[in-house]
Amino acid sequence: MERQVVLITGGASGIGYAAASAWVRNGLRVVISDINVKAGEAAEHALRAESADVRFIPADVSSSSACAGLIAEVMSRHGRLDIAFNNAGIAGPAAKVADCPMDEWRRTIDINLFGIYYCLAAELKAFTAQGHGVAINMASVYGKRGVAGGSAYCASKHAVIGLTKSAALEYGKKGIRINALCPGFIETPLTRGIDSTVPTSTMDALVARSANRRYGSADEIAQAAVWLASDGAAYLNGTAIDVDGGFLAA
Ligand code: NAI
Repeated sequence: MERQVVLITGGASGIGYAAASAWVRNGLRVVISDINVKAGEAAEHALRAESADVRFIPADVSSSSACAGLIAEVMSRHGRLDIAFNNAGIAGPAAKVADCPMDEWRRTIDINLFGIYYCLAAELKAFTAQGHGVAINMASVYGKRGVAGGSAYCASKHAVIGLTKSAALEYGKKGIRINALCPGFIETPLTRGIDSTVPTSTMDALVARSANRRYGSADEIAQAAVWLASDGAAYLNGTAIDVDGGFLAA
């Protein structure tokens, strides 16, 4: 049987890299994409230690033509696309609504929302033509809850969930599944970066109130993505799964 092909945007770091690694271990043909060429090439090199079937294709998801080109390149190299993990994203500006630099607000929406929309639109064309496909769109617990000082991030993630539900309704009957993932606080460069939306002390306090009382690992989110894309999750469509150590239970 021909091996499945998976595309992961933002695959050079954090959750995206962990997911790429998990799919490599499961024997899939893996394409990682990222705006960061150096990190993408390093990730490709590291993953090739486990499989020759790993490719890095650079792309900026905030560009519609780059996203269309990325999916076209995957199709021309592999002839199929079975799973798309639309994961690339940024933390966005940390500022109150009235004080937020508008260009940063717009950039967050451009990457976190339009980035997923552009990729998903191109992926759905490929999925429709081949008669199957699974897309996983990266949202967040902040797609379901507000966060003071993070309106752009929060708005982008809420919108990703709306996009996911609508797309599932449109494409479910064609054998295509589209779901969203809502991680809680995961230890990656995004949460550990100096420009992270929520200060570390605030994050620590929020994590302390979650059921599991600890940060998640990138691999714990990767495992959820792998399952969501599998036949075991065949009846999940248009949903947004919390993988948050019980953060939203509080
Ligand atoms: P990360 O910073 O480790 O990885 C994000 C990757 O996306 C980076 O490699 C970066 O270069 C890439 N990227 C950024 N802008 C891009 C663009 N315009 N085009 C293509 N690639 C671009 O962050 P992490 O934590 O792995 O985040 C991945 C996703 O998970 C993001 O969408 C984030 O919002 C989401 N998320 C993360 C959580 C966390 O606690 N770390 C919690 C909930 C959601």
